Amino acid sequence: MTEQELTRDVLIVGAGAAGLTAANELRKAGLSVVVLEARDRVGGRLWTDVIDGAMLEIGGQWVSPDQDALIETIGELGLETFSRYREGDSVYIGPDGVAHRFTGEMFPVAPETEKIIAEITERLDAMVAEIDPDRPWEHPRAAEWDSVSWDAWLRAQTDDDEAVRNLAFATGSAMLTKPTHAFSLLQSLLMAASAGSYSNLVDADFILDKRVVGGLQQVPLRLAERLGEDVLLNQPVRTLEWGDDGVVAHTDSVTVRARHAIIALAPVLYNRISFVPPLPRRQHQLHQHLSMGFVIKVHAVYERPFWREQGLSGTAFSPYELSHEAYDNTNHDDERGTLVGFVSDQNADDLFTLSAEERRERILESLSHYYGPEAKNPIVYYESDWGSEEWTRGAYAASFDMGGLHRYGGDLRTPVGPIRFACSDMAGAGYQHVDGAIRMGRLAAAQIIEQLRQH
Ligand code: FDA
Repeated sequence: MTEQELTRDVLIVGAGAAGLTAANELRKAGLSVVVLEARDRVGGRLWTDVIDGAMLEIGGQWVSPDQDALIETIGELGLETFSRYREGDSVYIGPDGVAHRFTGEMFPVAPETEKIIAEITERLDAMVAEIDPDRPWEHPRAAEWDSVSWDAWLRAQTDDDEAVRNLAFATGSAMLTKPTHAFSLLQSLLMAASAGSYSNLVDADFILDKRVVGGLQQVPLRLAERLGEDVLLNQPVRTLEWGDDGVVAHTDSVTVRARHAIIALAPVLYNRISFVPPLPRRQHQLHQHLSMGFVIKVHAVYERPFWREQGLSGTAFSPYELSHEAYDNTNHDDERGTLVGFVSDQNADDLFTLSAEERRERILESLSHYYGPEAKNPIVYYESDWGSEEWTRGAYAASFDMGGLHRYGGDLRTPVGPIRFACSDMAGAGYQHVDGAIRMGRLAAAQIIEQLRQH
């Protein structure tokens, strides 16, 4: 293959929301850019596709009201949003295995359990209020909170198992998608702080508020459109040489020389790039303490949204179910009804030891516990399996292992020579979300612009 040689002010590696935002910001400032993307499409963890005739959001999709950067971008790109369907009763399944209907925020548990959940939520909100999501490691108790697991901390507050499971799963199965013994209280507080409060995070009507008509992947698609031929697909960066003068990046067929680089990928993938010279010791160490969570996003499309006829909103959750949460995910102006369910961490590991048929049967069985037997017969069924995606390797995002956040967090965004890092997985506000990716893209671009202005 003929080698193509390009020279730009800034090289961006990765055409996800972070990389494409950065590239657009730099362009606006009059700088030349090129984006090298490993896949044959842009968007990274944003991917809207048609599967067996149904439009599905295979990756990220929801927008919450605190996500200013994303909301601003959606508006600026001329995209429209619509609200998640939420009329009617929600469903909660407790340890008795029975589907209980409820309305409002508090699900039906025994009054004593409800009281405990309310007390601990208040305690968590107070702790979260003290955390700066951009710098959680600076909290005076950061080291202490990073040395106790989320599960252990909750169990030290109460011996009510149902209360613990319900409190735990908001940042566990539902967000970091790791077992709750595998990450720290501090990591959990960061997750909550990134959404404003623990209460926001557990409020489905807040956190899963709106979707984009036509799919959220339109954000990266439109951002890429503006960059035209400066986005190159099928170009995994293999080697990045760096020094005082800038960088030289090599893919299998392209060489890019640039004064600055932004590495806009999930941090677990940095080691797929050969840095010459190697990154400093600090980065070598810190990158090893981050790992992806793991969740299967399950899409089930039906002839009609049958649950609505039963007065159900589609919102359902249970820390005791295989699919720990599920929602009405019907597309805008679609007659068919879509449910989306999630299976996280160890449950997801276990499911992937089964055949595709058995997996489907087990997941639909779980959905039927919430919505009744009709849930077992979708006309379209699809599992988003980001664990097998070479250029992502899990979902939704990366988080630190026990103790890693206070030890290394402060250097996540520290530049190395001409290299900056940007990704949702290192955001404060909007952490692990598209909003955070956009914020990090903007930040890296702003820092480069400022640096160039000074010289
Ligand atoms: P992202 O991973 O998207 O982009 C990185 C890019 O770099 C990728 O395109 C990759 O191919 C590329 N790349 C990697 N290595 C490379 C190399 N060596 N050379 C060149 N390119 C390389 N968020 C939200 O706000 N609301 C939601 O509802 C959800 N739900 C959700 C569901 C699922 C199933 C997933 C997987 C994720 C979500 N998220 C979400 C999270 C959200 O999608 C995610 O945080 C952002 O899209 C991440 O954007 P980034 O640009 O930071 O990374």
